[in-house]
Amino acid sequence: MIIAIDGPAASGKGTLGKRLAQHYGYRHLDTGVIYRAVAYGLIQAGQDLRDEAAAVAVALELDPEEFGNPALKSHEVGQAASVVSAIPRVREVLLNFQRQFAADPPGAVLDGRDIGTVICPNADVKIFVVADPKVRARRRTLEAQSRGEAADEAAILADIIQRDERDQNRPVAPLKPAPDAYLLDNSQLDIEGGVRAAIDIIEAVRAGRSRG
Ligand code: DC
Repeated sequence: MIIAIDGPAASGKGTLGKRLAQHYGYRHLDTGVIYRAVAYGLIQAGQDLRDEAAAVAVALELDPEEFGNPALKSHEVGQAASVVSAIPRVREVLLNFQRQFAADPPGAVLDGRDIGTVICPNADVKIFVVADPKVRARRRTLEAQSRGEAADEAAILADIIQRDERDQNRPVAPLKPAPDAYLLDNSQLDIEGGVRAAIDIIEAVRAGRSRG
């Protein structure tokens, strides 16, 4: 089974993806990390984020071992990933890796922006996670503070709004719900509540299928 989770920055889709993978015994891929790794590689090399050839070269050399690097989590890298991910050839290079990950047994949960629309259009269940931008900014602020970082909530909110805007309006694979995605608004839910709501959706889809 393939579970596709899409949604905007800081909507909680990564945490949800991880929890669902644990629940079902599947593998989990946070696809944002892949774009972050490309952006980070460019920043490290002192290269322009809009340099297509340089970005494609970094994407071709990606090492999944690097995906756990905590430096990928920063706001700066997230913003840079949003720029790099708008380059169509970068997306093309990263497509097969994601599809292969999804296809390997026993099943997979992928989260990102275009999983249900482009990467896995035939996913068994698609969930589009949303939350009020102010709620998302609050969560990111608390997260940063818990890592001991200083965090300016107003700046984080501005960053989230700018990233939503860029991710939704790019010509290639923009952030949008697949027509057959289930909408999950977790503005008023804690992590456990969000996980329960997602499992309810998945189980309802499975039950519908087996009645089929
Ligand atoms: O989910 P995230 O914040 O880690 O994603 C970082 C950026 O990467 C995001 O602003 C847009 C891009 N991205 C994408 O274009 N497609 C994906 N499937 C995942 C992320």
